[in-house]
Order: sequence, then structure tokens, then C-alpha cells
Amino acid sequence: MIISHIEHIGIAVKNIEESLPYYENVLGFKCYAIEEVEDQKVKTAFLKVGETKLELLEPTAEDSPIASFLENKGPGIHHIAFAVEDGVANALAECKSQKVRLIDFAPRKGAEGLNIAFLNPRSTQGVLTELCEK
Ligand code: CO
Repeated sequence: MIISHIEHIGIAVKNIEESLPYYENVLGFKCYAIEEVEDQKVKTAFLKVGETKLELLEPTAEDSPIASFLENKGPGIHHIAFAVEDGVANALAECKSQKVRLIDFAPRKGAEGLNIAFLNPRSTQGVLTELCEK
């Protein structure tokens, strides 16, 4: 696969509204989009940091994966997302052939209409890894 850059870093927060003043007023980033991803049971807020983004993730239900993450680990870095230039489907096939465990076996729609897929952290040195393409 060909990875061009870090597309975004996902950060679990309890409350987006309460988290934004730090990112906007202290670090000086601008939140340009807030979006709910229903099948993931999260609300997301995006801020640009050069070519990379921060994706703040707030759970919208008790059974949201972000809710259990917050419960187990507290707020903090949740995942890293790489921009794949030659397609997520292709990258997944390559991962599979190298015995990388997958969470998503096919690309699906994530925030911002990107095709995304997650790899299992047990196969990625403990880092929840998302692959995405425009
Ligand atoms: Co993400």
C-alpha cells in the first residue's frame, strides 16, 4: 500500500463543546466541521493542523465504542489514521495477506465521506489504526 500522510489523529473526549476551547483558544486551531457518525455512535469535530487533522470523538450512546474506551482508559489518543493513496480495499487485501487482523473486512463510510477501515490493534503494535481514502 502507499501511505501519503497521517490523515488524522482520533482523540476520545467526554464532551466536544468542553474540549474545543483548549484546541481553539490555547493551540489556535479552528474547528471546521462537527458531524455525527450514526453507525459508530459518535459525534466528531475536526480541526486542521497543516495537512493533518485532529478528530475529536464524543460518544452519543452508552454502547458506543468511544464510551467504553473512555471508561477503560479515560480521554486521550484513540487512533491514528493514515491516508492510503492506492485504495483501502487494496490495503486491506495486502494486510490480510500479511496476516494482519482486521476489524473491518471491507471499506465503509466514515466521517467526511471517506472510505475507511480499521485494523485490529493486536496486529498493529497496540495502536488502533485506521486506513482512509478520499
Ligand atoms: Co478516525
